Amino acid sequence: MRNYKIASLPGDGIGIDVTAEAVKVLDAVARLDGGIRFEFQEFPWGTQYYLKHGEMMPKDALAILASFDSILLGAVGDPSVADHVTLWGMLLPIRQSFQEYVNLRPIKLLPGIESPLKNKGVKDIDMVFVRENTEGEYSGVGGRVNPGTSAEVALQTGVFTRHGTERILRFAFEVAQKRPKKHLTSVTKSNACNYSMVFWDEVFKEVGTDYADIHADQYLVDAMAAFLVTHPERFDVIVASNLFGDILTDIGSAIMGSIGLGASANIDPSFKYPSMFEPIHGSAPDIQGMGIANPLGAIGAVKMLLEHHGENEMAELLQQVIEQQITAQKVLTPDLGGTAKTWEVGDDIVTRILASR
Ligand code: NAI
Ligand code: MG
Repeated sequence: MRNYKIASLPGDGIGIDVTAEAVKVLDAVARLDGGIRFEFQEFPWGTQYYLKHGEMMPKDALAILASFDSILLGAVGDPSVADHVTLWGMLLPIRQSFQEYVNLRPIKLLPGIESPLKNKGVKDIDMVFVRENTEGEYSGVGGRVNPGTSAEVALQTGVFTRHGTERILRFAFEVAQKRPKKHLTSVTKSNACNYSMVFWDEVFKEVGTDYADIHADQYLVDAMAAFLVTHPERFDVIVASNLFGDILTDIGSAIMGSIGLGASANIDPSFKYPSMFEPIHGSAPDIQGMGIANPLGAIGAVKMLLEHHGENEMAELLQQVIEQQITAQKVLTPDLGGTAKTWEVGDDIVTRILASR
């Protein structure tokens, strides 16, 4: 029996709804496969916990999580607490402490879904983003002095280390090597960010010498934002810094039809620490409590969890089931033009999984 200990962190808002569906789907996968066992433990950390205890998660949270094989995360963030408090209180410390330096985000238009981009179909939108996930613009280095005065200063420093830059670029080349197009695009802003991004470009060239079979090119991030909309078919694997990858992947999830479809994996490739799987979207306070959040992003994250643990057969099956459900056009949430509730989508995926054998 392959046993996986999974920590479930539903967090806030619709994170709670979609994580429930993700857990349901993993249970169904285990029932179908017979050789896999998932042991779940749920932790009620997030904004409600913060309002009671003054912290998003307890002091020993990282020590607790370290004993798990993987983490399922919903989302954190609630209008009652400042977003930087919730994000730095839970999500970013997990990514950084567990050296989850790869944030992998596949962006693929699935058959049956209409992209908001006119005249673009499934063969035009099929790419994978590799986002640096532990340093860069989100290092948390900086400070503020003289608050509230006319002499106030705020500094936010981007930190780009050779170790951190090299490892993410190497990982991206490896991802590109496994895809038929063997094309890797690096996104920077070296005209304006004349230290960090010029450095990134240099390391990109250096690492690239080890991957002569990969077609490597680079774009400035502002142009890239436009090309993702006008020429998405140009791109295969895209590597970017923490901030640029964050923004560009929201464009990515929009062009794949709904932000509710995007899945994301925070990976420590060394397996020293647990990796963390989550949808791309946030806690969506505007639709909280309505039961209409699309759970397919969170379910797509489950697929990435299975892949991460080498359960490729079940990962492939789950992908097929998601695609079948979408093409059937029967059980879809309102963001995809349907009327189904979040749990109905989850139930339908479960039924399809169990019916597949
Ligand atoms: P958001 O992704 O939560 O929502 C953006 C828009 O997309 C909203 O109109 C929302 O209703 C819609 N949407 C999102 N997910 C959906 C789904 N599964 N199905 C249907 N519609 C969906 O981004 P927003 O509004 O900027 O942030 C809300 C909160 O989430 C903030 O507190 C923010 O800090 C937090 N956040 C947390 C993240 C995380 O925990 N990884 C990531 C992004 C935001
Ligand atoms: Mg984001």
